[in-house]
Amino acid sequence: MNKVEKIRLKSHNELTVGRNIYYCKKISSTNTVMLENKDGLFSSGDILIADTQTDGVGRYNRKWHSEKGGLYFSILFQQIDDLQKFYRFIVLIALAVKEELEKLTNDFANLTIKWPNDIYYKDKKICGILTQTKIKGENIKVVIGIGININNSFSKENIFRNPPIALKEIVYKRSNIFNIFQSLNNKINYYYDEYNKDNFHKYLLRLNKSIYNRNKKIKFTKDGKTIFVRPLEFAQNGYLICEVNGKKELFSIGEIE
Ligand code: BTN
Repeated sequence: MNKVEKIRLKSHNELTVGRNIYYCKKISSTNTVMLENKDGLFSSGDILIADTQTDGVGRYNRKWHSEKGGLYFSILFQQIDDLQKFYRFIVLIALAVKEELEKLTNDFANLTIKWPNDIYYKDKKICGILTQTKIKGENIKVVIGIGININNSFSKENIFRNPPIALKEIVYKRSNIFNIFQSLNNKINYYYDEYNKDNFHKYLLRLNKSIYNRNKKIKFTKDGKTIFVRPLEFAQNGYLICEVNGKKELFSIGEIE
């Protein structure tokens, strides 16, 4: 692992998320390092960003291939008192990424949120978000890791569960990763404010329009079992309402693969 250094970006004054931004050229995994927080370097709201990860983690302990050219970062939150409520903010982060990618591609029709936390361009995955928690007594710590394919390529040997796509394949040019990061971080801050003001409900319409394969039958894995559901809409509490065998059921981010 290379040295972790604190960096300043142009417009991060007064931001809650990303008050401190740490950067590392090459790291095992921004999520793992933040979750461990060995030397207590990171405090709540801090961000760790890296050019490449040697052990990038995906959901269900899958490897997240992190070649140079992608955007890989994690945000740490400490002392969370209501994890179920906090999931609403995580849903809003997915919306922030989706909207940022819409702006970058100038395509407002083909980006969707695949529950719980993938962003898809048509039928290909462009971003994955991994939320990990550590609970010690009363203290709930959450690390939200975001990986976006920007200028990176995918080597043929890597087997992907979902076919990947990078931004460069959509816009036919390379993009400035730090500019994307800064703009996305501003958006995440905006949604963090909205979440804190209990304004999640204001974004239900936008979220519902963003659901990947809405009203269509898709596969979910819950408790290791595959079930078929029809995603319908988001509930006020951030859960996803789906139709399962003719009945409506609520699913929380924490329980679905
Ligand atoms: C998934 O779709 O499986 C989630 C992928 C999350 C990848 C990001 S990249 C930054 C952060 N560090 C990690 O090791 N994983 C997340």
